[in-house]
Amino acid sequence: MLFDRSIKIAPSILSADFANFGAECRAIEAQGADWVHVDVMDGHFVPNITFGPATCAAIRKHIKGVMDVHLMISPVDLYIEAFCNAGADILTVHAEAGPHLDRSLQLIRGCGKKAGVSLNPSTPANVLEFVLDRIDLVLVMTVNPGFGGQSFIASQVEKVRQIRAMIGDRPIHIEIDGGITPETAPLVVAAGADALVAGSAVFKGGSVDAPEVYGKNIAAIRAAAEAARV
Ligand code: DX5
Ligand code: ZN
Repeated sequence: MLFDRSIKIAPSILSADFANFGAECRAIEAQGADWVHVDVMDGHFVPNITFGPATCAAIRKHIKGVMDVHLMISPVDLYIEAFCNAGADILTVHAEAGPHLDRSLQLIRGCGKKAGVSLNPSTPANVLEFVLDRIDLVLVMTVNPGFGGQSFIASQVEKVRQIRAMIGDRPIHIEIDGGITPETAPLVVAAGADALVAGSAVFKGGSVDAPEVYGKNIAAIRAAAEAARV
């Protein structure tokens, strides 16, 4: 994975047909997705459950590009190796998921993967200060994690601005997750984001039998984001 700050659209398969992940992943990539965002939830760190490493490994075979795995699980360290072996390219853990964030990030990079840190809406940007040299991506949650289809929390735009300033010229992506639409994407891109997760805004109205709708939805978010690029 080469680093650049071009806009990346990362559809979240949390909004896909869970009985048809393979075809859904192929469809969104064919329709212009840059990364495929995979939400792992444990029913403990967040009040919802999705799936684990075996499902990630099965999905991997249907993704040609970047598999972006967002772990909403606690404890997390025990499972990092399994998700790396399942084929994640980027593995993101939550800063709130345990007391040893630095160790979690070392484990991810030790497996040869890109390491990400996600921050819940109430978590300040300064938790990143002493791990900046261990990360490849910051994932700013613009909803409280657990479910798709929630409303964008506008207070997070200022956090994105702060993180962009902290990062300076380090090769670290700023990814945004939650409530991203063509209306909200420009707000976070103008503040410094380069990667946008979108679940409901990509999958709404489409299906594997009508994948061109995914393409239109992705293109609308991309156009709005690119017009706001800093
Ligand atoms: C929420 C997940 C998101 C979610 C986004 O906990 O991390 O990736 O699927 O869904 P939308 O885009 O519908 O807010
Ligand atoms: Zn996510």
